[in-house]
Amino acid sequence: METYLATAVEIAREAGALIQQLSHRPHQIHYKRPSDIVTEVDRRSEELIVERLRSRFPKHGIVSEEGGGQKTPSEYCWYVDPLDGTTNFAHGFPVYCVTLGLAYNNEVIAGVVYDPTRDELFTAERGSGAYLNRQRIHVSKSATLSECLVATGFPPFMRDHELNIQLYYRFTRLTHGVRRAGSAALDLCSVAAGRFDGFWELKLNPWDKAAGSLLVTEAGGRVTDLAGGPFELLGREVFASNGLVHDEMMAVFNEAAPSPAPPGDAPVAVSD
Ligand code: IPD
Ligand code: CA
Ligand code: CA
Repeated sequence: METYLATAVEIAREAGALIQQLSHRPHQIHYKRPSDIVTEVDRRSEELIVERLRSRFPKHGIVSEEGGGQKTPSEYCWYVDPLDGTTNFAHGFPVYCVTLGLAYNNEVIAGVVYDPTRDELFTAERGSGAYLNRQRIHVSKSATLSECLVATGFPPFMRDHELNIQLYYRFTRLTHGVRRAGSAALDLCSVAAGRFDGFWELKLNPWDKAAGSLLVTEAGGRVTDLAGGPFELLGREVFASNGLVHDEMMAVFNEAAPSPAPPGDAPVAVSD
């Protein structure tokens, strides 16, 4: 396992250095969908990461955001976001990272998130704690929502009818504030490091949350879906907190959730 993490760290640092080296140029921006952008740097970073992973672990699967990876029959699969925070990067807003998470049968066992703008390296292995630049980190101790700083994110597509704008509004009134910094992987690391007390997002992909979700649990926090059910790497939702404010945050999600559809034509149970 040590080899997996050490290799992932080496690769994330190399990709981060490449991103920084290319960060000052004007970028070629391509639209995957309206408002969902990708730059040439995302692709260059992905090429580097996938090439390094393939040569080190030829049997492992790789799922990477820009499509350069490939699934294999192996129980091991790397979930890679070669540049999380692309929109920030493209606009010169320095909040972005490289993230690699290794899953064994869909359970994340090792993860790295590297922020090249601050030279911050977040690492975790299942059962061995969470670290920032090799120093152990822990979630915050805030026990009530009114003393919390929380964070969320919005998908770069399908923004109409977004329930999350309701949640954003509610949490803004109930907390010290809600941050939408633009990198889900770094948001999760901020929960792990006690900088944020909670984070949720409704429509993420596995590469956004693989490494960060492990960081949070290894830092003593809790990660579930929005209803408090088990976190699913391949599901869309993530809800991470320091554990202490999990139930209070969940009550806010429940209040904002659309009420269930009326029973309609469903047969009515008759009691005798
Ligand atoms: C995005 C970021 C953002 C989140 C979006 C993601 P990308 O990833 O993580 O914070 O709100 O849902 O798609 O496109 O920058 O890799
Ligand atoms: Ca991402
Ligand atoms: Ca990305």
